[in-house]
Amino acid sequence: MKHYLTGAVSGFAILASTAAFAEPQAEVLHYWTSGGEAKSVAVLQKEFADKGGVWTDMPVAGGGGDAAGTALRARVLSGNAPTAAQIKGPAIQEWYEEGVLADISAVAEANHWADVLPASIAAHMQCDGTWCAAPVNVHRVDWIWANAKVLTANNIDMPTTWDEFNAAAEQLQSAGIIPLAHGGQAWQDATIFEAVALGILGPDGYRKAFTELDTETLTSDKMKAVFDQMRIMRGFVDSNFSGRDWNLSTAMVMNGEAAFQIMGDWAKGEFIAAGQVPGQDFLCASTPGDGFLYNVDSFAMFEVAGDEKQQGQSLLAELVVGEEFQEVFNLNKGSIPARIDVSLDAFDSCAVLSSQEMNTSSENGSLLPSYAHGMALRGAQAGAITDVVTAHFNSDMSSDDAVQMLANAIANSL
Ligand code: BGC
Repeated sequence: MKHYLTGAVSGFAILASTAAFAEPQAEVLHYWTSGGEAKSVAVLQKEFADKGGVWTDMPVAGGGGDAAGTALRARVLSGNAPTAAQIKGPAIQEWYEEGVLADISAVAEANHWADVLPASIAAHMQCDGTWCAAPVNVHRVDWIWANAKVLTANNIDMPTTWDEFNAAAEQLQSAGIIPLAHGGQAWQDATIFEAVALGILGPDGYRKAFTELDTETLTSDKMKAVFDQMRIMRGFVDSNFSGRDWNLSTAMVMNGEAAFQIMGDWAKGEFIAAGQVPGQDFLCASTPGDGFLYNVDSFAMFEVAGDEKQQGQSLLAELVVGEEFQEVFNLNKGSIPARIDVSLDAFDSCAVLSSQEMNTSSENGSLLPSYAHGMALRGAQAGAITDVVTAHFNSDMSSDDAVQMLANAIANSL
């Protein structure tokens, strides 16, 4: 049976009045372990403690959250679910279907989430008409980050087409600079791939390929061109790229060893944590082409017994969607608030650009879920695509073979 969270209906007042009987507790499974991420999650830990909560941290290192997903599954299967876990996209509904998520509708309704969240974000947080997750932010995935001094010294502007990117990268390579800082992990390959795919297929082609799994698009000449571009990019990474963590790639851009990184704006969290200033030390621009790939971090609560834990879940849900938290957390995290009513006055130019382009994309139908970050597809299908992307990137597979393998992998995963 699903429990309805107590203590949330009137918010902190009830939580405060019950605190004498029970201390809100939360064991939180997350994968925010890099410099910028740790600073961000510390904001939540502090707010939780300030409200009388007891936080038990369960960080699982590993960018993109694959390792955290495995750890979560093991915990839930052994009947010992954490009170809250950082999960997102269709995985929320997959967990809901297993009957293990708590219903946080009481918190959502008391705090008017439906009025302060864009409908597209709210939809990801709902399961069969109930609220089953709390959104933290909006990360954009299709970004290029660059070392400003390296570009200036080599007389290079931020590329606005993939041809310009390739030309800049070749020039930098001849000058002895690593053009593309990249970590050879499957989710990072997928991150670059979807940005290239958005640029080359265009928003409609991206939608057909990665939300509708349309075979014609998956095997089209344009998709072959996407793999051609991936092959070119393979030539722009250094020989030590295999297995490197994403934040170490960001550090290579920071220290000028490399010029560019293609990564979501959690990379900005790293630049900021290191004291770097956008427009001065580092540059941001969307990857070539139209559209916006969004990635919304969120927490889902698992069904657990005990007043303390259930109150902890209510408190956590209420805090993460709170205005103050959404501002401070996202200033550190590199993302923008999920709420529509948080002022961006304190945010930097990259965040303002993200917000503007998100609104434009939302209006013209090119605001699209990131497949690489678990927003577009169920786990099995997303995994099938990423396996092909990685196999191609790490071999001499032809683009013809890659698209065929892609179509087969999707067919087998359905
Ligand atoms: C998450 C971010 C996280 C990044 C690196 C993304 O999938 O949405 O919050 O910082 O992975 O781990």
